[in-house]
Amino acid sequence: MSMLKLGVNIDHVATLREARYRGMVRGEPDPTEAARICEAAGAHGITAHLREDRRHIQDRDIWRLREAVKTRLNFEMANSAEMVEIALKLKPEIVCLVPERRQEVTTEGGLDAAGHEGELTETRNRMDAAGIEVSLFIAPDLAQVEAASRIGAQYIELHTGAFAEHFQSKRERNEEIQRLIAASERAHQLGVQVNAGHGLNYENLSLMHLVPHLVELNIGHSIVSRALVVGLTSAVKEMLALMENYPAQ
Ligand code: PXP
Repeated sequence: MSMLKLGVNIDHVATLREARYRGMVRGEPDPTEAARICEAAGAHGITAHLREDRRHIQDRDIWRLREAVKTRLNFEMANSAEMVEIALKLKPEIVCLVPERRQEVTTEGGLDAAGHEGELTETRNRMDAAGIEVSLFIAPDLAQVEAASRIGAQYIELHTGAFAEHFQSKRERNEEIQRLIAASERAHQLGVQVNAGHGLNYENLSLMHLVPHLVELNIGHSIVSRALVVGLTSAVKEMLALMENYPAQ
């Protein structure tokens, strides 16, 4: 049995720093220090998104993270020429391609992989040549899963935002869970590994146990928020505890 892994997204540590220290070369809190604490607490990977607008993580952060991260660095990025060049130099273990511009987004908020197969395949080829795995952040939609498979992505990350948003309505959240299950099963049939994330928290996490074939969850906001109350080590450990006993796949 392989356990469900936790990737901690530390973007919002940088969001807090930028709120006070924007434009300055240093400031607190430090996302690299946070990454070290997450790893020591048992996180299996660290995720950071260098946005084109640099609203939270800065360029200096990703280089420091590359040096500090001992588990797996998941570099979230738009599929732009600038970000592809950075990724090829940075050499994270994996990149997760996410939409940043309106035309790249499906109505459910994931990357429109089906609409951008050519460009995404080209990037996947370049990452392959550099030994970097590729994940595509997509809505739980069968057409998108099948496009991800044709593109040759090793992973998809299923967008759990709609599930999280509808969590208070039992009927709607069950519909979203069914979509996540169907998408994960299709990916598994096609030999694509499945991660999930966005909006997962200490309350809605238990329902992720219903979704089969999950390898890793990427969680940011809820863990960084909880850290204000109990500290980052405990926040990570509490989330890991909720992820235990994920059924053997
Ligand atoms: N996965 C992806 C692809 C994301 O873009 C984000 C948000 O930056 C997350 C996971 C984490 O979402 P949250 O901060 O809501 O846990």
